[in-house]
Amino acid sequence: MKISYFGHSCFLVEINTIKILFDPFITPNELAKNINVSEIKSDFILISHGHEDHIADAVLMANKTGAKVVSNWEIISWMGKNGITKTHPMNTGGKWKFYKDSSTISDQEIKNFTVKCTNAVHSSSFPDGTYGGNPMGFLIESGKEKFYYSGDTALTTDMKLIGEYDKPAVAFLPIGDNFTMGIEDAVIAAEFAGCKKIIGLHYDTFGFIKINHGEAKKKFSDSGKELILMEIGEELEVEG
Ligand code: NI
Ligand code: MN
Repeated sequence: MKISYFGHSCFLVEINTIKILFDPFITPNELAKNINVSEIKSDFILISHGHEDHIADAVLMANKTGAKVVSNWEIISWMGKNGITKTHPMNTGGKWKFYKDSSTISDQEIKNFTVKCTNAVHSSSFPDGTYGGNPMGFLIESGKEKFYYSGDTALTTDMKLIGEYDKPAVAFLPIGDNFTMGIEDAVIAAEFAGCKKIIGLHYDTFGFIKINHGEAKKKFSDSGKELILMEIGEELEVEG
């Protein structure tokens, strides 16, 4: 799979030719000022929870890309009020198979992926303070590739279920501490989820979550894992 990083928790992951954009927060992010949002193409937008730093560009990117937005019930209703109707509501524990818009059945068989909504221990409200439903993470599977995007979360023993039954090859985990788990807990989360390759997210964007990159990578490598900290704007091919 091919991963592009747009800062904070926002990634575009291309898996089996399907482009999935996660937690669009680009235009308000000073660190991502060189990203041109008009150049981003996406088939789906997945949103983990309602906080500003995950949803700020959701309506903008849905309009620009024409992508289908997948999130919890409350966020999908909120998108609807903002004029976005190409959507699919889910909730924690639910699973659904999505097809990339394509003309032939055989094409559909290749171009599909499954989303399973995982538990995230966090909160979720909209920028105006109203209730934003359950915060969630996502397990994504397409063909032989599988990855876990945890969203904002604390370390939780629920992640052991992922390691036991789902076994994703790659995990996107928060490492910035303060609002989510920090590096030490993320190492344990990776252990629980059975992942050796971790893409870090939710760090450096604001004062409370600045981290030491060298120290973070060492803590992961000391436990036999690789922490990848992508440059904003970087593209990376990883084995999913
Ligand atoms: Ni949050
Ligand atoms: Mn956040």
